[in-house]
Amino acid sequence: MSSAPVIEAVSAAEHIQQLERDYLLQNYARYPLTLHRGKGCYVYDLAGKRYLDMIAGIGVNALGYAHPRITKVIKEQAGLLIHTSNLYYHEYQGRLAERLAQVSGLQRTFFSNSGTEAMEGALKMVRAHGNKLHPEKFETVSLLNSFHGRTFGALSVTGQEKYRRDFEPMLPGVKFVPSNDLVALEQAVSERTAGIVIEWIQGEGGINPMTHEYARKARELADKYDALLIFDEIQCGVGRPGTYFAYQLASPVILPDIMVAAKPMSCGLPLGCIVANERAAAAIGSGMHGSTFGGGPLACRVALEFFDMMPELLPQIRSKGVHFRSRLAELQKRYGFIKEVRGEGLMVGVELDIPGKQMVLDAMAQGMLMNCTHDTVLRFLPPYIVTEKEIDRAVSVLAKIFKKQ
Ligand SMILES: Cc1ncc(COP(=O)(O)O)c(C=O)c1O
Repeated sequence: MSSAPVIEAVSAAEHIQQLERDYLLQNYARYPLTLHRGKGCYVYDLAGKRYLDMIAGIGVNALGYAHPRITKVIKEQAGLLIHTSNLYYHEYQGRLAERLAQVSGLQRTFFSNSGTEAMEGALKMVRAHGNKLHPEKFETVSLLNSFHGRTFGALSVTGQEKYRRDFEPMLPGVKFVPSNDLVALEQAVSERTAGIVIEWIQGEGGINPMTHEYARKARELADKYDALLIFDEIQCGVGRPGTYFAYQLASPVILPDIMVAAKPMSCGLPLGCIVANERAAAAIGSGMHGSTFGGGPLACRVALEFFDMMPELLPQIRSKGVHFRSRLAELQKRYGFIKEVRGEGLMVGVELDIPGKQMVLDAMAQGMLMNCTHDTVLRFLPPYIVTEKEIDRAVSVLAKIFKKQ
């Protein structure tokens, strides 16, 4: 490319950044990168520079960019019906709910637009369930280091003080316990507990999986005290671990009463869901909950197209995840500052004992996007269509960066 278009692209990017400085709430700390288009697992900035995307919009772009099947149904449906509201029926909401029931083992779905909204609805279910049984049954037990979203309910059960402190007081009756500590969980749950919330693999918290023993204990306690068990599968579910949902990694499967999912469900379109068994669903009656946008025809149709592809994708996600982690384990042998390689399927974390933030910028300079969470955990949530060759390319970018440390 000659220098003139690059200079133009740089000044266009500066203009975009200036507009945002002038007109947006200053809540995001964006990287200095302005994206223009994508194809497959690659995105391109305004100047046409290509980046291998190993974070995929924080686990949203499950089929990468401009996937032909997704583009086709979006085009077709956009010409037919984008939104109806929930005053009327359309062809796709019931069909998607049926598909979710088939793959989750839970019966009833409510559609939202985001993860945090799904969590809000699930917490309302917990409250309504508890209220029916006893006025004092409103406590929720949640895990330290968890992340469940930014709205008030979801924030109240998020086990990280840094997200909550500016907005106190939170919802009352939330108890936080350390994850994988069976005794602490047993001590926290009582007759007053209406819900237990567990993120199967903590994502923002640094790719920390729950042990199956712990999840089983939570199930047992929820049954003992007639509380609802919620699994937050917003980041770790919908194919990402190589099963439809992370709770299906346990054998036998440990079913929650309520499962919430979102991120990759509609391949970039906003769509979230609460999927509940009959016991939990019975807590919400007519008029008790709703959404204007949730479950629109466009988002639901795209999700159905995506779910049609899932049976073929799941085994590939598992094998590519094994390949990725084994390549990372080779790096771990070479570099003492790599403490651990963790994850399931294409949800992968590399914990370092040095800061990872600068490495994200270094990777970007090398044409690769990744993320660092909790200061020292490099997080990878690539599209499900990533190839072993692309994984190898990501590993060689990492090797170059690690070599400089
Ligand atoms: C586990 C988990 N729960 C909830 C949320 C909130 O989802 P959203 O950002 O779509 O509101 C996230 C987002 O990162 C998440 O990772």
